[in-house]
Amino acid sequence: MPDTITITDDRTGKTVTVPVTDGVFASSALRELDKNLFMYDPAFLSTASCRSAITYLDGEAGILRYRGYPIEQLAEHSSYLEVAYLLLYGELPNNEQLDQWTYEVTHHTFIHENMRKRFVDGFHYDAHPMGMFTSSLAALGTFYDDAKEIFDPECRHKQILRLIAKAPTLAAMCYRFSAGLPFFLPDNSLSYPANFLTMMWKIGEYEVHPVLERAMDVLFILHADHEQNCGTTAMRVVASSNADPYSAAAAAAAALYGPLHGGANEAVVHMLGEIGSIDEVPAFVDEVKEGKGRLMGFGHRVYKNYDPRATIIKRTAYEVFEVTGKNPLLDIALKLEETALEDPYFVDRKLYPNVDFYSGLIYQALGFPVEMFTVLFAIPRMSGWLAHWDELLGDKDQKISRPRQWYAGPSERQYVGLDDR
Ligand code: CMC
Repeated sequence: MPDTITITDDRTGKTVTVPVTDGVFASSALRELDKNLFMYDPAFLSTASCRSAITYLDGEAGILRYRGYPIEQLAEHSSYLEVAYLLLYGELPNNEQLDQWTYEVTHHTFIHENMRKRFVDGFHYDAHPMGMFTSSLAALGTFYDDAKEIFDPECRHKQILRLIAKAPTLAAMCYRFSAGLPFFLPDNSLSYPANFLTMMWKIGEYEVHPVLERAMDVLFILHADHEQNCGTTAMRVVASSNADPYSAAAAAAAALYGPLHGGANEAVVHMLGEIGSIDEVPAFVDEVKEGKGRLMGFGHRVYKNYDPRATIIKRTAYEVFEVTGKNPLLDIALKLEETALEDPYFVDRKLYPNVDFYSGLIYQALGFPVEMFTVLFAIPRMSGWLAHWDELLGDKDQKISRPRQWYAGPSERQYVGLDDR
């Protein structure tokens, strides 16, 4: 079978033949037929916006790999910081590299006092932590005069360290503010997840339970990257204008905030609470099928199979519940999953549980309020966003993102004075 595609413009009879590699062809070939020819692809359903070597995703088979390593193996054997290094630098670190990386990240966890005293303290008392987190990311960039030196490799590395290191500090700061609690400074003798959990929960004596520390780390690994999702696309689009990484990360976080993206885990817990009991599950599923809302935590643009992250999260949930006690919403979630997976509506549309279906239940068992769930997604996604930012800046094929449109407005008309309208 030839590895090419031939496109004929029936209007002119012109033909162009283009190579197809890995199921992708360069759509710029269309311009050879007619330089005013554009592809209409709302929501980018059939567009590969970049060439990337970071994350591989096969939605039909339910496969997710970071830099070639299966997510299952990374979740089993790795730590989040090791995975962050892998995403950013392409290889798993050796002992020396991991020690150096961990040391560097650990020693960038503190945040300028003005961020808390002048900026975060300025929010309204009931501000949503994700709204605070998103805007704080953009504000953080204003503290570093080298933030805009994006073509200097050393400065770039510095911003990467700062953003990965400070994301948990900022997240805990936003939570503590919204809960009216005093901020607790980072303890750099602790691991990345233990430091975060300590900043969140420490009041008087507090020691992180090792099972919960590991669960947090696994959740961070699972959320670290997911190729060209809405948030990562926002990161790349903003970064393509050569904006600083703090501004680009704020844009990515804003995209993640939406309920169809990272906000879904929050929506799942609300949904399970509204369903209320196992007996109400069939009636709820019927309502979804009638188009009265969606089954949150189900379905995915790419996965047409069980999301591999959901399988790992479900297992982790049971480990966490051994320590914290079972989340009462678990039984409703299990029944909902069982009902949906047997229902032709969901089967025919290939709708399976996604990463958000069980993550909220763990977060709740760990004590996080639902408003923090998307923030918990954003902390580890920072390494993925930054890996894509770094890749984009070194990609000779990339320019400023500037798609075209299919104009659907009125044709030229003459201005009518105010009194004549
Ligand atoms: N519940 C009920 N029906 C659904 C659902 C759902 N969760 N998801 C999709 N469908 C139906 C949809 O109504 C449509 O049916 P029809 O063909 O009859 O019109 C069909 O399935 C295809 O849906 P779509 O909206 O064209 O699919 P999409 O690829 O644009 O949307 C999605 C993907 C994730 C936005 C969507 O499945 C959804 O809204 N899920 C619920 C929200 C959610 O869990 N989001 C988290 C996604 S994973 C983590 C992340 O990316 O942050």
